[in-house]
Amino acid sequence: MLRSLLGVALVSLSSALLAQGQGTSEWCDEGKTGLCFQRYYDENVRTGWGYMFPEADPSGGVSNEFIGIFTAPATTGWIGNSLGGGMTQGPLILAWINDFQAMISVRRAIQYGPPSVMSGGPTVTVLGGSGVTSDGLEQRIIFRCQNCTTWEGGSESINLDGWGPLGFATHGAIKPLQPSTTDSPVYQHTYAGIHVLDAPAAKTAQYWDNLKKLQDLPQLPPPATPTTTPVPEPTNTLPACPGVAAPVYGLNVADGWKATPVLGRLQRPRSIITDNQGHLLVLEAGVGVTAHTLGDDGCVTRSVVLIDDTTLNHGLDLTPKGDKLIASSPDIAWSWEYNATALTAYNRKTLVYGMNNPGHVSRTVWVSRKYPDYLLVSVGSGANIDLPSFERGSGRAQIRVFDMRALPPSGIPYTSGAVMGYGIRNDVGITEDRNGTIHSVENSVDNAYREVEGSQIDIHNNNPAEKVYRLGDPRNPTGLFGGYPYCYTVWEGEAFTDASKVPGDWFVQAPNATLNDEWCNENAIKPTVLLPPHTAPLDMKFGPRQRDSDLYVTLHGSWNRNPPQGYKVVVVPGKYSSSGDWSPSVGLSATKTSFTDLLSNRNETDCQNGCFRPVGLTFTHNGDWLYISSDGSGEVFLLKRAADPTQTTTTTTGTTTTTTTSGPTPTTPSGPQQTPWGQCGGQGYTGPTACPAGFTCKYNNLFFSQCVSGEWKGKKGKVVKGEH
Ligand SMILES: *[C@@H]1O[C@H](CO)[C@@H](O)[C@H](O)[C@H]1NC(C)=O
Ligand SMILES: *[C@@H]1O[C@H](CO)[C@@H](O)[C@H](O)[C@H]1NC(C)=O
Ligand SMILES: *[C@@H]1O[C@H](CO)[C@@H](O)[C@H](O)[C@H]1NC(C)=O
Ligand SMILES: *[C@@H]1O[C@H](CO)[C@@H](O)[C@H](O)[C@H]1NC(C)=O
Ligand SMILES: *[C@@H]1O[C@H](CO)[C@@H](O)[C@H](O)[C@H]1NC(C)=O
Repeated sequence: MLRSLLGVALVSLSSALLAQGQGTSEWCDEGKTGLCFQRYYDENVRTGWGYMFPEADPSGGVSNEFIGIFTAPATTGWIGNSLGGGMTQGPLILAWINDFQAMISVRRAIQYGPPSVMSGGPTVTVLGGSGVTSDGLEQRIIFRCQNCTTWEGGSESINLDGWGPLGFATHGAIKPLQPSTTDSPVYQHTYAGIHVLDAPAAKTAQYWDNLKKLQDLPQLPPPATPTTTPVPEPTNTLPACPGVAAPVYGLNVADGWKATPVLGRLQRPRSIITDNQGHLLVLEAGVGVTAHTLGDDGCVTRSVVLIDDTTLNHGLDLTPKGDKLIASSPDIAWSWEYNATALTAYNRKTLVYGMNNPGHVSRTVWVSRKYPDYLLVSVGSGANIDLPSFERGSGRAQIRVFDMRALPPSGIPYTSGAVMGYGIRNDVGITEDRNGTIHSVENSVDNAYREVEGSQIDIHNNNPAEKVYRLGDPRNPTGLFGGYPYCYTVWEGEAFTDASKVPGDWFVQAPNATLNDEWCNENAIKPTVLLPPHTAPLDMKFGPRQRDSDLYVTLHGSWNRNPPQGYKVVVVPGKYSSSGDWSPSVGLSATKTSFTDLLSNRNETDCQNGCFRPVGLTFTHNGDWLYISSDGSGEVFLLKRAADPTQTTTTTTGTTTTTTTSGPTPTTPSGPQQTPWGQCGGQGYTGPTACPAGFTCKYNNLFFSQCVSGEWKGKKGKVVKGEH
């Protein structure tokens, strides 16, 4: 039954994809192997995915193998395909070039999160003719995939008798984290989709001869002149941090600020915070929580794994006292006792559970600074349009608040929390103003349309707006209704042919007598700030400087828009009331153009090849320094306000210190010697490897060896002395 339903679905999917030019066609590898494949070629990323199947097994049985060929620009980080199309559970083939050698591995797509290495399924072998072409411009990976046509779970097989879907993906720029090992973690794709394969046309009686030919062919020799594309330095660059690689992508930095990366090649940095002693804590999805000691210049001088837990994927916060750390997986929010002096986190407790939904997996956690007993937790919708989430009891598309004094020792289900807001689709960013009022920022719907006289008009490229909500006082949650899954916010009024709309107005996709734009006006609470469609806001913070009334928002960047947009940090000007309540400095409609860019990519249109993708942000030094994580590029940036030659008094956690800031920070010569506690080795590391007197270079993990003194106890995350 399931298989026949799938069959019907596949036929209609296949014809739709074919109509969009997403089908394979015959392509012969002229001048190279000379062999012909059925190939899907994508102009946008100049990458090809080719296939050849045997007509029959030589022994007469049903063959379960094929020959694949991936071709891509030499600068592409990795290339992959999913044998099961868009379905999870199918095998994924991932390939890349390391040191001019083709690397290939098989993973299994799981419901969410990065794919895990698959064992006991397909066997992949690199064939001859793989490597980088002699002009240094193209990488090609030719492979034999055995036991590759059927598997358990998902769609269970490649359709060998007609058209069928396969997934394709690449990362446009960054190689896997440990490119010399086939099971390396990889950066999430920058470009992906589904193509359809005409498997019968890919079958050839010459298969076994062709296989033999490829087996006998040598790998391509390293090109004489390998080409590298130099990445432009960001505008307004700070002196580079010792041992930290240059930024992966060219960036623009707003006037009045300077930027430099302080960490690079992290697996997937999401939320970042600073503790009371000025350490930077980073939630690295798939790793856990890492802690970083910062030097006077803001560069990282030492890094340790604070919590080793690969299930943590997004949320991270500290109580205002700094003694409890809270972090989340897609299902659970936990707390740990946190000692910033010892850099230890221990005694894990479950606070909130029962949040798993595969639609959106980030569970942002925010501890109220004004009322530190209150914890806010966000759970997004279970699908693009999650109709049951209209019920406030659903536990999806909402933010709930928990009084931590009243939590049972084993935690409570999410749906036991009080509702701060519901009908808010996926509000990943949560923060609080000077009055303790909670604000959140929402990722709105994809593929939006407007039904006019029975037909759907596509309005998705410029609608709906992403938006900021004022959710109120965490002690007295009002359970605001934000309109989702029916009401959406207009960004571009011109897209509507049936009504006159201005930015900030409500629209429903399919208005009828009862559920229409007026219904939204009467029943849903309007947002306070509009942000561009599909830009995926993930975090926001208010500027802590006394005279700074701006709101800083990270926009992770779009997938559902052509050309792409977002991929930057923006600043929304605002004002504070006498009680410290924040509001934007202009009315809702005018917020469409009131924000400015703080840190952005040089060429947003090119983001399908990879971009800086900001996630978390945290201020230090009383608001003069801003750290920003980027999961798409594995980096953390430091932005500093351009030097202000006046003496400023900063108050940090009860202690008053006087700081003199004058002129630009002096350049630290990146000599051959590393600083105490600095990195001295590790996969992908290119900085100094010699440690200063009294320190030795000690292996910490695959990515990180560190200059340590004799007092180091040698257990990761448990550096006992030498803290400074
Ligand atoms: C083929 O793959 C299946 C899983 O898809 C596995 O159970 C089986 O052992 C594999 N067979 C061989 C010969 O590797
Ligand atoms: C934190 O760690 C330091 C250094 O190990 C220790 O002296 C201190 O007592 C610890 N604090 C708490 C609250 O455990
Ligand atoms: C913010 O200030 C107003 C006016 O003083 C007050 O009524 C309200 O409760 C405050 N909100 C929070 C969250 O403290
Ligand atoms: C109007 O639309 C809503 C939401 O799609 C639907 O639940 C309702 O049944 C519709 N009402 C009428 C009268 O068609
Ligand atoms: C930006 O990227 C797009 C897409 O790759 C490209 O067509 C365009 O020429 C680039 N613009 C600049 C100024 O480099």
